[in-house]
Amino acid sequence: MHIHILSAVPELLESPFSHSIMKRAQDKGLLHVEVHNLRKWSLNKYKQIDDYQFGGGAGMVMMCEPLVNAIETLQKDAPFDEIIFLTPDGDTLDQPMANQLSLKKNLLIICGHYKGIDQRVRDQFVTKEISIGDYVLSGGELAAAVLVDAVGRLIPGVLNNETSALTDSFQDKLLAPPVYTRPVDFRGWKVPDVLLSGNHRLIDDWRHQQSVERTKKLRPDLLSGADLM
Ligand code: ADE
Repeated sequence: MHIHILSAVPELLESPFSHSIMKRAQDKGLLHVEVHNLRKWSLNKYKQIDDYQFGGGAGMVMMCEPLVNAIETLQKDAPFDEIIFLTPDGDTLDQPMANQLSLKKNLLIICGHYKGIDQRVRDQFVTKEISIGDYVLSGGELAAAVLVDAVGRLIPGVLNNETSALTDSFQDKLLAPPVYTRPVDFRGWKVPDVLLSGNHRLIDDWRHQQSVERTKKLRPDLLSGADLM
């Protein structure tokens, strides 16, 4: 998968994809993240990309020309499957959305700043508007890092153990069960016996039951669509 990110502050995205699973995904050639500086497509020598909003009011708006020049230039090599604008008024990112996006081959993510981007770019070019939650960030870059991580780890072959993404919280609309590692007894707090039993049917049943109980307690809203069997 190729993910292009268009940003007014590309420095903010220098490191999130250079470590851990995102780095491994890129090293394996399964994911290629390319961050582009929007100012490269600015029309004037001041590298301007934003301007005052028509009608007055505080806050600048990101202009059409740099954004559209960037989109059309980057699109020349390969058309985008989705042109995503990150904005607090988009659809809230969840696991089904991440699953769907992980099947795409070529994505463009536009990071907003200031008051946002000119509505005409949203109307004419953007195919999907995504929010990472009901709060406002100063720009879309951190949201882009969240989105790329959530999607990138789902690309087949990225995680060592392919089943581990399938047992994540939310994949079956249930929260993940508790996990333990050595030592068996830490300050008198013991690992549940069933996990030491070696009986995988019992362990699976226990984990499922723990998931259901956790979800009932912490996120009862998820249970309507959950697989409780
Ligand atoms: N830009 C600013 N706030 C955002 C949010 N909550 N999600 C996505 N992009 C944003």
